[in-house]
Amino acid sequence: MAHQVKGVIAGKKGEPVSIEMIEVPNPGPGEVLIDVKACGVCHTDLHYREGAINDDFPFLLGHEAAGFVEEVGEGVDDLASGDFVILNWRAVCGHCRSCRRGRPWNCFATHNATQKMKFDGKELSPALGIGAFAEKTLVAAGQATKVNPEAKPEVAGLIGCGVMAGLGAAMNTGQVSRGDSVAVFGCGGVGDAAIEGSRLAGAHTIIAVDIDPTKLEWAKKFGATHVIDSSKVDPVDAIREITDGNGVDVAIEAIGLPVTYEQAFYSRDLAGTVVLVGVPNPEMKIELPMIEIFGRGGTLKSSWYGDCLPSRDFPMLIDLYLQGRLELDLFVSETISLNEVEEAFHKMERGEVLRSVVIL
Ligand code: APR
Ligand code: ZN
Ligand code: ZN
Repeated sequence: MAHQVKGVIAGKKGEPVSIEMIEVPNPGPGEVLIDVKACGVCHTDLHYREGAINDDFPFLLGHEAAGFVEEVGEGVDDLASGDFVILNWRAVCGHCRSCRRGRPWNCFATHNATQKMKFDGKELSPALGIGAFAEKTLVAAGQATKVNPEAKPEVAGLIGCGVMAGLGAAMNTGQVSRGDSVAVFGCGGVGDAAIEGSRLAGAHTIIAVDIDPTKLEWAKKFGATHVIDSSKVDPVDAIREITDGNGVDVAIEAIGLPVTYEQAFYSRDLAGTVVLVGVPNPEMKIELPMIEIFGRGGTLKSSWYGDCLPSRDFPMLIDLYLQGRLELDLFVSETISLNEVEEAFHKMERGEVLRSVVIL
């Protein structure tokens, strides 16, 4: 018997989301049924609703989630009913060319549940293969990562996407280490997590750059040692001033704009690293003198989901949180109910929140 539960659906391009009764199958082989407890509102959900990802409407939105395993399908032996899990969109396959080379965080063949959830007889496309603005959802077993159940769901769920992207941009992709100087462009949820990740990794100087003074105030709470309002001053000059004229070891772009990517590029020291974690749109272009790319040496990288390996990173980060060494509570600007997702999109667009989190 399939389960009938409430879920947030984007039915047509650009139209407001609605709450509908959806059909969630019982878990088949390799699948798990999740009793969702919390799910953060992320930019990607809005991008789906706007048709900016693909045209596979209707979408079941939500992907930054935590909950309890309700039932496991055949062959699932590392999860059991009652386990507290964070959902992820990187269920690694173990045998693609990247996994075989020992780089599962780049897995090129991640997978989702085989069976489809449905609405009104139509197959739903779950956001990032998850679909967790719903009372229950169906995922592949590898998409559910067991963590310490003492963490509150609304906080734990954030590790499933945006916060992981930012933490990982600093710790995994940027390889920030003890004594480094770092600049983070954009202090939303992702940028603030990159600031925290830099602090955790032992960075000495952490410079937050934003055009919104409120965001800069918040950035200090996550560990920024310096803040720059780039609507008032040239951030490249200001960063050089703070770093004895040299620039930073690691510059992290957490917005996804050509202008801030260029600022990041020019604000790094010789042999420094630029990490792009902000998501650009397909029309954006940058122009850089090749001699600067060559002459400065170093590395230009992009960070996809913070280059995370959920099984390695999620339990570790939750433990750090429970030990009081990782600030996660501050990311939760508000908790809301399922029927407030549309309003939360508007708050996100207006820049009023780091994260609105749906509680179920
Ligand atoms: N210069 C500096 N800061 C800027 C600029 C700019 N030109 N434009 C916007 N910002 C700041 C905003 O003021 C805001 O604080 O960037 C921040 C972006 O934060 P959010 O909109 O909250 O986005 P966030 O959830 O952090 O995601 C950032 O990462 O995963 C991607 O899709 C996501 O591209 C997005 C990015
Ligand atoms: Zn793989
Ligand atoms: Zn997301």
